[in-house]
Amino acid sequence: MQEFVDKAAVLHEALPYIRRFHKRTFVVKYGGHAMVDEALKRSFARDVSLLRYVGIQVVVVHGGGPQINQMLDKVGLRAHFEGGLRVTDDATMDVVEMVLGGTVNLDIVGLICAQGGRAVGLSGKDDHFIQARRQGPVDVREPDGSHRDVDLGRVGDIQHVDATILQNLIGSGFIPVVAPIAVDDEGYSLNINADTAAGHLAAALGAAKLVLMTDVDGVRDAAGGLVSSLDAAEAERMIAEGVIRGGMIPKVRCALDAVEHGVEKVHIIDGRTRHALLLEIFTDHGVGTELHGAG
Ligand SMILES: Nc1ncnc2c1ncn2[C@@H]1O[C@H](COP(=O)(O)OP(=O)(O)OP(=O)(O)O)[C@@H](O)[C@H]1O
Ligand SMILES: [Mg+2]
Repeated sequence: MQEFVDKAAVLHEALPYIRRFHKRTFVVKYGGHAMVDEALKRSFARDVSLLRYVGIQVVVVHGGGPQINQMLDKVGLRAHFEGGLRVTDDATMDVVEMVLGGTVNLDIVGLICAQGGRAVGLSGKDDHFIQARRQGPVDVREPDGSHRDVDLGRVGDIQHVDATILQNLIGSGFIPVVAPIAVDDEGYSLNINADTAAGHLAAALGAAKLVLMTDVDGVRDAAGGLVSSLDAAEAERMIAEGVIRGGMIPKVRCALDAVEHGVEKVHIIDGRTRHALLLEIFTDHGVGTELHGAG
């Protein structure tokens, strides 16, 4: 009997959070190990469905780097990285679109629907809702400390997000699952970083929360300790010092941009932990790293 009483207590504990977030929008970036491990995938899909059923409007934005690499391998194309950044030539872009907009997106949609959530898959090309401009050359830092300019090919800088299609889907009870592909002025697809896309969508939707799920427990400092709270000045210092590197840079930058643009809370959490998403939302045990604005 006690076991059942305890279970009821868990629901009571969640009530203030359910009330606070009822009818609010959360954007969740889904990626890394949580998107590969079968048990974690099912558990994520369940968590997302649960959020929807307690009245939280969820938008999922997914990554898919490892899945793109696997497909490039299968079709005999070489994944090309410069300073940790993918170079997307035209042939690679076809594969990116096929994998992100196809297999990966449909897999997530299927999993959420199987848990009773009404997921709908789309990319930024639908209704041209994510518009971008081809990114100019980027400054790449070599391990020896030198710098050089690299053209990353079909990679986009987001210029505008029209959230109408997402608002319509959310308003009708659907869970949009977004592949990070944008469209340029001429209708060409551009590859965009999924974290950056999630940040822009969260800002355009006026989201209450942006949650970035990854394969580490949060941002780590030079000594390897978890940083539970980070502001813009500290983050820029850690990037300049090379403590925040690689894929963590767009994650932290988009998180800070989202805060600047009115998203109330931004968290980087560990997607390898089962139910990390629910723990972050329904408890006060701050998991991962929370990002704050300049002020
Ligand atoms: N200071 C730091 N703290 C934590 N992780 C860091 C730091 N600096 C660099 N990283 C790296 O950033 C990685 C997270 O970014 P990454 O782009 O690899 O994953 P992701 O965005 O979750 O997945 P995907 O890009 O496939 O969607 C971590 O696994 C870690 O290796
Ligand atoms: Mg990444």
